[in-house]
Amino acid sequence: MVPWSCFGICRRFAAAGEGEQALAPAGTAVALAALLGLTLRRRCRARSAHARHFGAAARRSETMKPLVRLLLACLLGAGLQAAAQAAAGAGMTPAPVEDTMAQRMQACVICHGRQGRATRDGYFPRIAGKPEGYLFNQLQNFREGRRQNRAMNHLMRHMSDDYLHAIAGYFAALDLPYPPAQAHGLAADQQRLARKLVFDGAPDRRIPACVSCHGAAMAGRLPAMPGLLTLPADYLIGQLGAWRTGQRHAAAPDCMAEVAKRLTPEEIGAVARWLSAQTLPLGTKPEAGATRPLPIRCGSGEP
Ligand code: HEC
Ligand code: HEC
Repeated sequence: MVPWSCFGICRRFAAAGEGEQALAPAGTAVALAALLGLTLRRRCRARSAHARHFGAAARRSETMKPLVRLLLACLLGAGLQAAAQAAAGAGMTPAPVEDTMAQRMQACVICHGRQGRATRDGYFPRIAGKPEGYLFNQLQNFREGRRQNRAMNHLMRHMSDDYLHAIAGYFAALDLPYPPAQAHGLAADQQRLARKLVFDGAPDRRIPACVSCHGAAMAGRLPAMPGLLTLPADYLIGQLGAWRTGQRHAAAPDCMAEVAKRLTPEEIGAVARWLSAQTLPLGTKPEAGATRPLPIRCGSGEP
């Protein structure tokens, strides 16, 4: 599809050190970027509607910010390439682009925040510091269509398992500060509801405590259980909603699908806002693997 060619441009720009093909000329990129802008605008409207359905505040302008940045990056990439071509034409040698993992991952940080540490604003999830096994599973899930997001599905399409391991390892090893805690704005009963689910669960409805799998500090657990604190509330609501509607799948048995289906929309709203507002001290790592069996069997996330 035409707009995704623009992602191709950015990706090739990020991988320029691999000696891949030259980028598209600037004129074409400008036209593609305009088309991409229109498409992304429509997608953002759809996502805001989904968030509203589950009671989250629709923050379209926040969601749009990284997308606008992506647009600008595409234009910048094309402009730089045009300049490089002009330099080559004039007999000058363009400056080489450093080929490091950090350089290649520039295409990701446009959406996932500087060094992959997106904040709780908007929709894009932080990926820095999550367990390597979890990140690898997600990259594979996007590639195989077990998770639906057009940008991510497209970006992962041609990547090998080896490269996905390298990407997952790179982001997992980053140790970067988390945003400070903030007020969650929940009424006292909503706050009680959220805390009860996180620390005790709801045994009468066979909902185990979130901490029994996501770790006592909710910072994740090795090898493949993610931390949930500081993620955007809209993103958390989106993921739980995606499990309920069959848009997101993990390896069977898919324990999170069971948990998500047992939660009410009110519980999802409360727990997402509570989790999002917490923080973690710098240097917090995911917990070591479980020594006891998990409360529900999980195809992903078990040692
Ligand atoms: C155009 C924006 C965009 C770009 C560029 C992008 N991502 Fe994403 N990424 C997203 C969105 C949106 C999601 C959440 C999708 C969903 O709702 O399931 C996501 C989800 C993810 C997740 C799952 C996070 C989690 O906690 O489950 C990983 C891992 C990830 N991206 C890695 C990457 C990597 C690596 C790159 C670069 C090669 C990249 N992304 C580039 C938008 C982007
Ligand atoms: C039985 C174990 C288990 C329990 C209990 C559990 N989770 Fe999970 N959760 C998982 C696993 C495993 C994953 C990773 C799934 C995957 O690989 O896609 C996950 C992933 C998630 C994600 C996606 C995170 C992201 O970055 O995309 C959210 C949100 C989530 N859980 C919320 C919760 C909440 C809220 C609770 C408590 C009400 C809870 N979980 C309880 C096992 C569990």
